[in-house]
Amino acid sequence: MTSISKFWCTVLLITLCAGQACTHKPGMVAVPVIPPSCDSTNITYMGSIRPIFASNCYSCHGSGVTTGGGLDLEDTTSLRTYLKNGFRGDNIYGSKLYHCMLHTPLAQSMPPTYIIDTCSLHKVHFWLKNGAPFNS
Ligand code: HEC
Repeated sequence: MTSISKFWCTVLLITLCAGQACTHKPGMVAVPVIPPSCDSTNITYMGSIRPIFASNCYSCHGSGVTTGGGLDLEDTTSLRTYLKNGFRGDNIYGSKLYHCMLHTPLAQSMPPTYIIDTCSLHKVHFWLKNGAPFNS
C-alpha cells in the first residue's frame, strides 16, 4: 500500500469512528440517529416490530423455516425465549438480536447482506428498551 492510500485509509477510519462505530462498548448500544421523517409514536409489537421482522427476517427465521439456523423469530414464545437468553450486554437493551441488526463486530450481521433502515432500527431499539412487550 502506498503511503498516500494509507493516509486516506486512516482518514476514512477516523471518519467512521467519529460516527458511531467505535463508540460502542460491551453493554452499551449505539443508538442510531433518528431521521425526522421517522414516526416513533405508538410503537407496538404487532403494529411496528412484527412487520419489520416479517419483511426482513422471516424468510430465514419464520416458523417452519430452517435457513436461519433454526431460530424462529415469528413464533412469539420462541422470540421471547431468545430475547431472554441471547444477551451481549447486561439486559434486554443489550440484546444480541439488536447487535446483529446493527452489524457491530460483536455479533453476526443480520440480515446478512444489508442493514435495515434507521427508522426501523430505532423502533426495534425503542421496543427492546421498553422490555419488548408483545402488545398490539
Ligand atoms: C438470508 C437469511 C437470513 C436473514 C434474512 C436473516 N437471518 Fe438471522 N441468521 C441466518 C443464519 C443462517 C443464522 C445462523 C448462523 C449460524 O448458526 O451460524 C442466523 C442467526 C441469527 C441470530 C442468532 C445469532 C446467534 O448467534 O445467536 C439472530 C439473533 C438473527 N439471525 C437475527 C436476525 C434478524 C433480527 C433478522 C432480520 C432483521 C435476520 N436474522 C435475518 C440467516 C438469516
